[in-house]
Amino acid sequence: MRVDTDNKPLRVGVVGMGGIGNTHAKALKADPLALLCGVCDVVKEKADQAARDYGVKGYYRLSEMLRDLDLDVVDVTTGGYENGSWHFEPTMEALAAGKHVLCEKPLSSDIREAREMVRFAAEKQRYLGCNLNHYFTPTAERARQYMSDGAVGELIYILFKMGFQGGEATYAFNPSPRFNQPYAHLKAFLTHPFSVMRYFCGDITHVQAFCRTPGFRANKGDLLLSVNSVHVRFSNGAIGYLISHRGDAVWGLGGWWSCEVAGSRGTFCIENCIERLTFWPAPKPGEKYGLGESPKPEVLETGIREFGATFPRRIHAFLEDVSNGVPLEHLRASGRDALATLEVIQAAVESYEAGGQLVRPVPLPPLKGDPLRERI
Ligand SMILES: NC(=O)c1ccc[n+]([C@@H]2O[C@H](COP(=O)([O-])OP(=O)(O)OC[C@H]3O[C@@H](n4cnc5c(N)ncnc54)[C@H](O)[C@@H]3O)[C@@H](O)[C@H]2O)c1
Repeated sequence: MRVDTDNKPLRVGVVGMGGIGNTHAKALKADPLALLCGVCDVVKEKADQAARDYGVKGYYRLSEMLRDLDLDVVDVTTGGYENGSWHFEPTMEALAAGKHVLCEKPLSSDIREAREMVRFAAEKQRYLGCNLNHYFTPTAERARQYMSDGAVGELIYILFKMGFQGGEATYAFNPSPRFNQPYAHLKAFLTHPFSVMRYFCGDITHVQAFCRTPGFRANKGDLLLSVNSVHVRFSNGAIGYLISHRGDAVWGLGGWWSCEVAGSRGTFCIENCIERLTFWPAPKPGEKYGLGESPKPEVLETGIREFGATFPRRIHAFLEDVSNGVPLEHLRASGRDALATLEVIQAAVESYEAGGQLVRPVPLPPLKGDPLRERI
């Protein structure tokens, strides 16, 4: 994507120096579009350690970092209750200071906060991106190319399967409020599969969910609804299904996540997120195949098995979009895209609580565009 090489790199500060903050800091350090200027953590030792590791200044409060460094971008990698309750404050503080923000997923564990973050970024006319990293892969890019080439045709269905490696023997009860909450897996994790489903199939308009805590978890006092079965309908009429668990079973075919997108002209399947894409063209007129037979598929083996490779790719895309000054509503994996996943998750929670009733997610804020920046 076009980036003016005369552009100075974007000055970035990272807030929240846990495992994921360090993953971001390493990616930023290695990216020519970024200049990592500072790191911040309320835990002094973490801020000091990261400052030493990256050779930048360390801070214990975002307000101090914002005062001291003239940043373009604040990268929010805090965690919290349900792995997302500490995103709101630093994101709002950075936006109020006029900074662009890249925020980890989920945008917030509280849907009202997530709506406010998206509204406020639009009011401030700043980029709010979310680390929806799972589709910044060669597999998803090639799949979207098949779609835009017309090789998939009219979308018929999407099947998504996602789970951590596990089972009864390796299960260990985690009493932390980060995960011992009924909806922690739904809120903190399903952002990812819904973001990929939406990337391929568009907005979700209808949701129906069943969730459960398997007996071996419940016997230990675990509150987590770790198994989630969600049936959806998209605005274009396609239908979809997601089954997800949090280490309750062993992986089957397709690695830790796989998805199959079927269309009237062809079907593709992504296996193990970034590892393999298979595309099956539909039979041509006159071609006949028996049950279980199909035209020869095209297979893309990326040679990448490590999911960690998605972080630098997604972070680079955000830096590209900000450097290029793309219209706000063209930002890839935007805050609004992340809010969309949370509206679906909220609908799934409501559906589950109502015994599997059909629920319509709250519509997203409209995309209005900006007449000063975009000619239509
Ligand atoms: N995109 C992905 O693939 C992916 C994968 C795993 C985790 N995550 C997300 O990354 C986030 C961070 O995960 P983690 O495991 O590194 O969490 P963590 O709890 O280990 O680290 C978060 C750090 O933020 C600090 N912090 C919290 N509030 C702060 C504030 N206001 N100012 C400064 N520092 C603050 C904490 O002290 C902590 O050191 C979570 O939201 C999680 O959901 C994303």
